[in-house]
Amino acid sequence: MTAAASGGAPLHAADTHVAVLGGGWSNEREISLVTANACAGALRDRGYRVTEIDVDRSIAARLAELEPDIAFNGLHGTVGEDGTVQGILEVLQIPYTHSGVLASALAMDKHRAKAIFESVGIPVAEHLIADRWEVAREHVMAPPYVVKPIAEGSSVNIFIVKQGAAHPPQEILREDWTGGEEVMVERFVPGRELTSAVMGDKVLEVTEIVTDLPFYNYEAKYAEGGSKHLIPAPVSSNIYQRVQTLTLLAHRALGCRGVTRTDFRLHEEPGGESELVCLELNTQPGMTPTSLVPELAALAGYSFEELVAWMVEDASCNR
Ligand SMILES: Nc1ncnc2c1ncn2[C@@H]1O[C@H](COP(=O)(O)OP(=O)(O)O)[C@@H](O)[C@H]1O
Ligand SMILES: [Mg+2]
Repeated sequence: MTAAASGGAPLHAADTHVAVLGGGWSNEREISLVTANACAGALRDRGYRVTEIDVDRSIAARLAELEPDIAFNGLHGTVGEDGTVQGILEVLQIPYTHSGVLASALAMDKHRAKAIFESVGIPVAEHLIADRWEVAREHVMAPPYVVKPIAEGSSVNIFIVKQGAAHPPQEILREDWTGGEEVMVERFVPGRELTSAVMGDKVLEVTEIVTDLPFYNYEAKYAEGGSKHLIPAPVSSNIYQRVQTLTLLAHRALGCRGVTRTDFRLHEEPGGESELVCLELNTQPGMTPTSLVPELAALAGYSFEELVAWMVEDASCNR
C-alpha cells in the first residue's frame, strides 16, 4: 500500500500510476466502459498517469505485470462489483477504490443484503426466492410484484407484473436467460423513486428520479432523456432526512467504503402514512459526469474530476 493511499501525504498525481478497470464480461459491460472511460479522462486531466484496462480473465496476470500504484474500479456487475476483483487486488496488494471484498459480495446479493438491512431496521419490500421455472409457472405472489435477478444491476432482466396480469413473465424461461436459476420475487412498491449516496463518511443530498417509461428500466437509466433527476428531491423534509439516515445506515451495515448509492421507493397514500423502502445499495454506482452520484457530489462542491481524484486518494487494501 502506498503511504498516500493509507492516509499519509497527498498523492502526487504525476508520480501515481492508476490502472482504471473497465468492461469485464457482465451484463453491464457497456455501461462500465462508459464509466471507466469518463473516470480515466478525469484522472488524466488531474495529471495522473493512467492505464485503462478492458478486464478479461487474464486480469490478475495483467495487473501483476503492470504493477500500478492504485486500481480505480470502474466495473459494474458480476466479477467487478461482487468482491471477485477486489479479492484479486487484495492478493496483489494493489490499493483499490470503492468497497472491499465482503461488502461488495453482500451488496451484490440482494437477498442477503436485505436480510442485513432488516436486521438494522432499514425497511425493505417483502420478497421470496424461487426457481425461475416455478416463478414462470404461476403467480407465486399476488400481483403486482417484481421479478428480478438476485445479483445483477442496471435493471437488466427485471419484470414488473401488474395487478390483474394473467401470467408470470415467460421471458425468464428463455434459453439465453442470464438472470440466474433462482430469482427474487418482490412486492411491487408503487410511487416515487429516490436515491442518495455516501462519500467517505458523509451522506450526500437526495435525488428523485422521474421517468415516463414504465419503470426506471435500462432505457430510462441510459438513453438520452430517459429520465429526469430532481435534486434536491421535492419531498417533505421528514422523508428527505429519513432517506439520508437510511442511506448512511445501509452503507455502514454492509461495511462499505468510498462511494455508494442506495435506491428507495416512496409510496404516499393520500392523507395516509407514507411507506419508504430500500431497494438496494450499489457499491459500484455509475460514474459519468451525468450519473446520479457525480451530480450529488457536485452539490457537495466536488467537480467530477475532484470526485474521481478523491476516490483515488481514498483507495486502500483491507477495505
Ligand atoms: N419492488 C419494487 N417495486 C417497484 N419498483 C421496483 C421494485 N423493484 C425494482 N423496481 C424498479 O426497477 C428498478 C431496478 O431495480 P433494482 O432493485 O434497483 O435493481 P438494479 O440492480 O437492476 O438497479 C428500480 O429502480 C425500480 O424502478
Ligand atoms: Mg437499482
